[in-house]
Formats: sequence, C-alpha cells, structure tokens
Amino acid sequence: MKLPLKRPILVTSGLPYANGFAHIGHLRTYIPADCFVRYLRKLGEEVVFVCGSDVHGTPIVVKAEEEGISPKELVNKYHEHFKDIFRRMNVEFDNYGRTDSEYNVRRTQEIVSKLIERGFVYSKEIDLAYCPVCNRFLPDRYVEGECPYCGALARGDECDQGCGKHLEPGEIRNPRCKICGSNAEFRKQEHYFLKLTEFTSFLKEYLEGLDGTENAINYAKEWVESGLKDWCISRNLEWGVKFPGRDELVVYVWVDAPIGYISSTEEWSVKNNKSWERFWLDKKGFIIHFIGTDIVYHHCILWPAMLKGADYNLPSAVVASGMVKIEDKTFSKTRGYVVWVKDDYLDRGFHPDLLRYYLLSYTSHTKDLNFSWRIFQQKVNSELVGALGNFIYRVLLFAKKNFKNEELKGEISEEVLQEIKKTRDSIVQNLQIFEFKRIVDEIMALVDFGNTYFQKSEPWKVIKEDRERCRSILRDAIQIVKAICIFMHPVMPEAMREVWRQLGERSNLNSVSFEDAIRPFDGRIGDVRPIFKKIEDEEIEKMEDILRKRIERAEGGDNLITIEEFKKMDIRVGTIVQAEKIEGSKKLLKLLIDIGEERPRQIVAGIAKTHKPEELIGKQVVVLTNLKPAKLMGVTSEGMILAAGDEPVLLTVERRVNNGSKVS
Ligand code: MSP
Ligand code: ZN
Repeated sequence: MKLPLKRPILVTSGLPYANGFAHIGHLRTYIPADCFVRYLRKLGEEVVFVCGSDVHGTPIVVKAEEEGISPKELVNKYHEHFKDIFRRMNVEFDNYGRTDSEYNVRRTQEIVSKLIERGFVYSKEIDLAYCPVCNRFLPDRYVEGECPYCGALARGDECDQGCGKHLEPGEIRNPRCKICGSNAEFRKQEHYFLKLTEFTSFLKEYLEGLDGTENAINYAKEWVESGLKDWCISRNLEWGVKFPGRDELVVYVWVDAPIGYISSTEEWSVKNNKSWERFWLDKKGFIIHFIGTDIVYHHCILWPAMLKGADYNLPSAVVASGMVKIEDKTFSKTRGYVVWVKDDYLDRGFHPDLLRYYLLSYTSHTKDLNFSWRIFQQKVNSELVGALGNFIYRVLLFAKKNFKNEELKGEISEEVLQEIKKTRDSIVQNLQIFEFKRIVDEIMALVDFGNTYFQKSEPWKVIKEDRERCRSILRDAIQIVKAICIFMHPVMPEAMREVWRQLGERSNLNSVSFEDAIRPFDGRIGDVRPIFKKIEDEEIEKMEDILRKRIERAEGGDNLITIEEFKKMDIRVGTIVQAEKIEGSKKLLKLLIDIGEERPRQIVAGIAKTHKPEELIGKQVVVLTNLKPAKLMGVTSEGMILAAGDEPVLLTVERRVNNGSKVS
C-alpha cells in the first residue's frame, strides 16, 4: 500500500475463538495490527481498529460440554479474558464486539438471505454422519474418522494431523461419534451450499489487485488455480446464528465470523455516531485484515466471495503473519508447546512491552517466529537494557545534572536532523510493506547512531573546556531521544510513555505525530530512571522449567490421577455365560457376562486368538462397566473386560464372589 492513503482505513484482526485462554501465538495477529494502527495515526491517517470474539462453531460447543457449562457461559468467560488481555497488552481496539451480538446476528441473516435471493446458495441432500446411539447428526468436530485425501486420523471439518485439508460435511471416511465413540452412520439431510465455483473468475481478478503480504495472496491464487469447491454453509447445531428459514440449522461459523468485522464496525459507528457504511458499502474506505497464515483461505477466498455476492465492499489488503513456534517446535496446546499470556507472562510480572518488542522485532512478519525464553532474555538484556535503555538514561541523566532546561532548547545540528528524517522515511517505507522487524531495526540503528554520537563527542570532557559546545551536543542527543521515543511508541507504548514523561513532555503521546520528531525539544527533564530492567538467569530458568514440565506432562510423564478420578470407574466382577466368534474377525469374541444385572452385558473382547469360546464359559472376570458403548465390527460392546499383558491374560478373582461385586 502507498502512504499517505488519504482514505479512511479500517484495520481488523482475526477474531479469537472464545474457547480458551490467550497464548502468545494469538498475539502475532493483534500486536502487529495494533502497532500498525498506531503508526498510521502518527502519520495523520484516519483509522478505525475493530475486533471481537468468535463465539460460535463446534469447538465451543464441545468445550462447553467438557467443562459442563453452557456455550453461553463458556464464551462469556473467555470473551472477558480476551478483553482483559488486550487491555493489559495495550492492544487498543476502537470496538471489541462478539459474533452473537444483535448486530452480527442481523447482519449475518441479511447477508445469507441476500446470497440465497441472488442464487448464490443452493440446497442439496447430502449424506451426513449421524450417531445412532446419541440420536443426532454429528457436525464438524463431533465426528472423527479418516481423511479421504491422505488417510490420516481427521476431524469432521479438517484433516488437522495429516494433509491439513478442509473437509466438507459428509467427506470423512469411517466416521465415529466423538461423544460416545460409536461408529456413525450416514443419513441424508438437506443442506445449503455457497456456489464458490461461480466466483472463480471474479476471485482470480480480485486477487491480482489485492494488497497485503505475498504469502496470503500467493496461497490464495494457488488455491483458485487448483479449482474451488462449493462450501456447505449450514450446520446441525443449536448454538449459532439461525439459518434463515430453517430454524433447526445454524449458519456455518466461518460465515458469521468474518461478518463480525462488519458488525463490530457498525457497533463502533453507533456508539460514536460515525458511519460504518463508508467502509463496507460506499467505495471510500480501505479495509485491511490482519490474520495468521492458517486462515488465509477463509479471508482471501470464502470471505470476498460472500461480500461480492451480497454487494459489500471488498477487503483492500490481507496481511498474514507466519505462525509462532515455541522453542523451535510447532505450537501445540495438547503437546504442551504453549506459552499463556496471562499465567506464564503477565501474571509473572513481565512487562507487556518486552513481549511486544520480541514479537515485532524477531523476524519478518510473514515468516514463522520462534519464541524461546533464552532468546527473550538475550534480546531484552542486550537490545532493550543495554542499547536503548542505556542510551536514554545516560543522555537524560547527563543533561539533568549539568544543564537547566532552558539551556537544552534551541537549534539542532543538520547531521542529527538528517539522521532522524532518514529513520522516519524508512519507517514509512517499511510500513507500506508490513515489515515490522525492519522498522524496529531502523529505530535501533538510530539508537546506535545516538550512542556513537554521544560516545565520540565526549561531553563529559567537553563540559570542562567549552560549555557552549557541550550544550549543543546535549541538545542533539536529547533530540535523538525524543525522536526514538516517538518512533518506538507504537512498538512499546507503555515504556515510551515513561520516557515521554521523563522528557517532561506534557502532551498525550498517542496524538504526537511523526513531524514532532524533528521539532526541537521543548520539555523539562523530570526525574530520570532506567526504563528497562535486566532479566536474571533464575527468572528464565523458572520459565523454562514450567514449559519443560508442561511438555512432559503432555507426553504422559506425570500422569497421576486423583482418587475421585479412579472412583469414576465402575469395575465389577462377572461370570461369562456365553461366548462366540464374530463373523469376519480373527481377533474378536462376543461375550455375554452376568454382572448381577437383570440382563447379561454384551462385551466385545480382543481375545479370540488366545481363548477358545467354550473354555471361557463359567469363568469369573473383571469388567469395566461404565465405559461408553462402542461398536466393533458392527457389534455393540457395553464395557471392557480387564486383562494383563500382550497375550492377553484375563484378570480374575482369588475366590468366587457374587456377580456384580464392586472392585475398589
Ligand atoms: N476464530 C478464528 C478467526 C475468525 S476471523 C473472522 C480463529 N481464531 S483463533 O483463536 O484460532 O486465532 C485467532 C488469531 O490468532 C488468528 O488470526 C490466527 O491466525 C492467530 N493465531 C492463532 N494461533 C497462532 C499461532 N500459533 N501463530 C500465529 N498466529 C496464530 O482462527
Ligand atoms: Zn454418539
């Protein structure tokens, strides 16, 4: 993009799912966007910055079921959590909405109805996974099975451990119910599809003109080239935006989620008596989406097609960051490779700006970013404490000790002015291509310049011989401090506010523009203190320890359970009353076991290779009776018989006890 833009700009960040705590992977969407917005404002651009919680979709319903609360309670909790994290990390949205707001429900239904009216949506009977035990259809993450493309274990909507492909309802092979483990069947039901295929040539042209980062645009182009498929946009769920005209269905979450960008803008406009139409309906605004590479498809293909079909403005730019890794490993909550923003960072007293600095300066925005506690410590200690903090402290301290404020005002040398202007220009240039690392590098180069300038001018010697010359050295040095403070403010808003205060500047740094960087210093130096503190080895070792333990626990290193957890298992003694082979299976036997209930339990056991059916009759065995029923080779199994070793050898009792005796 070319600055100045001279158009109102809307910046959005990918809406976080309100089903878990914020981790530092998330921050790579929000911090660069927040920094970008702050820079645009410093350049005098008119910007609105919106976001909100994505509260729909099956992961949320599944998580709520796990936690034993309603989806609403679940999302309320995490919605507040995210708001709090953004406040503490100084990510300042003009509006933070949620996708179940009235605004969003209304807007979604309006857009979907429009797409239907205009013939961009059709209905079709499809085969959907259905659980005969739970008596329900199994949308998305309610079902598990094999990926039709690569054969890996996949969930209903995505081959998350294999090829990564998006799966449409009905595509998964050998589906099983996630809730009860039963084999699912396929049943027919009428669903709705967005004719994505009809948008192929539109998308080709659109992507040619789309601004943003190469990774987003190129991936999207490849996908369009390799052929699009129509998308099913309805789901069998209660939680979500009701599908217009079909009350038992909801709209697919990836339809109402991006519409959240529109409704959050609308909510902002109502609160501030401004227009949202200038961004989404009149062709005036410039819309920029900040996201991670994992959701490029949704933003560069599905979303523009929806907007085009319903006659809304299209995004002008999509800026996609690379993914965050932890200690060089792929981010994974289940495998323990995660750093939580609240528990592992903020609540342990780390300053929000240090992490902002790390995320913005570590690598190019489009590359994957490795987070390591060691590197964090090194960066903070050498770059922030050693270079930046030290320079500011030295200059301000020397100035305060030796000069009155009045003496520090006046002309600045041409050399220094040129250096500041050079930095300003490279920031603008790199902003246009979303290269935050290079922006920080340029500012740090100005810090180096300042340090060298101070060092080689030797003001501590000069002051003894030529006070006037020393005064001009200090004026230059303070001007550099002032410029650095303004330039670095979008990266580290809190720390730079403190520098601004030490400089004795009274204005609100938020509204100080880039032009002020070359306006001579006009403050009065207040009490001077170092702004950054060194991070000690012990602090880092503690954090590494926490991470290591988390990974070990995830790998099963510490799999202790409580007595309550053990007591949840209902284990009883029973007598085998019938045993027979299962047709087509060499491994399985079908057993009927009397466990003192009215009717013997039918249990399928993998013991056919080691046990003859007739030899089992009358044996007392040990049975886990409250295991969720499952189907094996089409035969329902209502429990599990306990055995030891690979052979396996059946567990039995020391002497006969009543059938149904509880094991405890
Ligand atoms: N709810 C969807 C986005 C809907 S936008 C209309 C979603 N939510 S998310 O919580 O999974 O992710 C929120 C943002 O964080 C997304 O922009 C996503 O790309 C980003 N990231 C989540 N984990 C990430 C990493 N490990 N690394 C980098 N960014 C990541 O996706
Ligand atoms: Zn089921």
